[in-house]
Amino acid sequence: MNDSTVAVIELLLTAKHYTELPNLTPDDLPPQIRKAFDKKGIITRPLEATENVAKKATGVESPWASVKDLMFTNKDNFTSEMTITQMDLAEKWFLKNTTADFILTNPTLAYVFQENDSLGISYEESSTSNRPIQADRFWIDSLLSEYFTEDDQEMLDLVDIKAPEEIETTLSDLVLTEDQTDELEKIRLAIKNRDYLAEIGLREIGKLLFIGPPGTGKTSVARALAHSLNLPFVEVKLSMMTSQYLGETSKNIDRTFEVAKRISPCILFVDEFDSVAKTRRSDEHAALKRAVNTLLKSIDDISLIRHDVLLIGATNHPDQLDTAAWRRFDDIIHFPLPDADMRKKIFEVTTKYMVIEDFDPSKLAALTEGLSGSDIRLVLREAVLEALGENRTILAQKDLVEAVSAIEKRDILKTMPLE
Ligand SMILES: Nc1ncnc2c1ncn2[C@@H]1O[C@H](COP(=O)(O)OP(=O)(O)O)[C@@H](O)[C@H]1O
Ligand SMILES: [Mg+2]
Repeated sequence: MNDSTVAVIELLLTAKHYTELPNLTPDDLPPQIRKAFDKKGIITRPLEATENVAKKATGVESPWASVKDLMFTNKDNFTSEMTITQMDLAEKWFLKNTTADFILTNPTLAYVFQENDSLGISYEESSTSNRPIQADRFWIDSLLSEYFTEDDQEMLDLVDIKAPEEIETTLSDLVLTEDQTDELEKIRLAIKNRDYLAEIGLREIGKLLFIGPPGTGKTSVARALAHSLNLPFVEVKLSMMTSQYLGETSKNIDRTFEVAKRISPCILFVDEFDSVAKTRRSDEHAALKRAVNTLLKSIDDISLIRHDVLLIGATNHPDQLDTAAWRRFDDIIHFPLPDADMRKKIFEVTTKYMVIEDFDPSKLAALTEGLSGSDIRLVLREAVLEALGENRTILAQKDLVEAVSAIEKRDILKTMPLE
């Protein structure tokens, strides 16, 4: 039996069972099936598997042709909806032609087949490994078009919203300190158990501040966290809000937090946090003071427990934050420049798809004291491009060593005053 037949039968069984089991939610459908049945962010019962829908859901070019020879399938010539005429036969056939592992990728079917003890299928397991609907780009888009009218477009221009499926850097691509790993694990547990935390009244959770020099992974870790928690990522750069229209800043800050609340559960990442929450000096513009106050108040108002929004602020200049801003975060995570051991690991992780002769990451780590993770990526870029210039795609340790010098030279240029 070929794969397209199995895929179409999976779809027809899923449609039928999902339609009849009102306790299942869109999170119980595999992403591709969910997307095929989506109507502007809503998935309504009954799920009607027309040929068109089936094509989208399975990627099979002619869905009906691939199942029409089975004795338990039918197609309505008028609506082109395909159905199963005898469920028991269809299920028996399906079980014979698939594996337990395959069924685990479909929570709706896992729910149905967990009754069958001999298969050892757990709905629980299937449902935790399935991507939830809020992680789908189409769902975020439909939510945006539902909640935001033409007039609100301006508000959306302020923020960049990413679906977890669109985030490329994952936690396994990043080298974290032990401290960072521990803190992220705590947040993961807090998010998973937020109902319990609400019950016991623990509210001081869900506001993190990432501090450290540029290029140490603050933005990347925040995004990777969204990817790993399957939460939409709402990113805003405060400098963009303040640079153009200082007078509008307060309103824009309000709006940004509003976007996050509407899209929740999500992560709201406020980058360049210092650009508004600077120590308030007496000679400051009244508008900036208002902006600071709005920002502080917005942080107070938003809550992981009540709004399902995890707030992450990031700054390269922690010294410029005033105490009022500091106090509002319940956890500070440090992003130091990487030590030799971390630099070695960053070299290892970032070169995993490259061929490098005599590769010695420890030696490179020893040569790169003071460089950030981002600098190390620049070293690789330099080495790769230099080698390409010589028609090589296989690198050698020597290329990397030379690239380190080149990058360091550039750093010296950067700090020289421009006359
Ligand atoms: N600890 C690290 N491990 C792996 N890559 C890193 C690390 N720190 C920085 N990088 C890389 O450097 C680049 C810049 O990092 P970024 O997250 O933008 O830093 P920041 O927000 O702190 O300025 C990214 O491509 C990131 O993957
Ligand atoms: Mg950053």
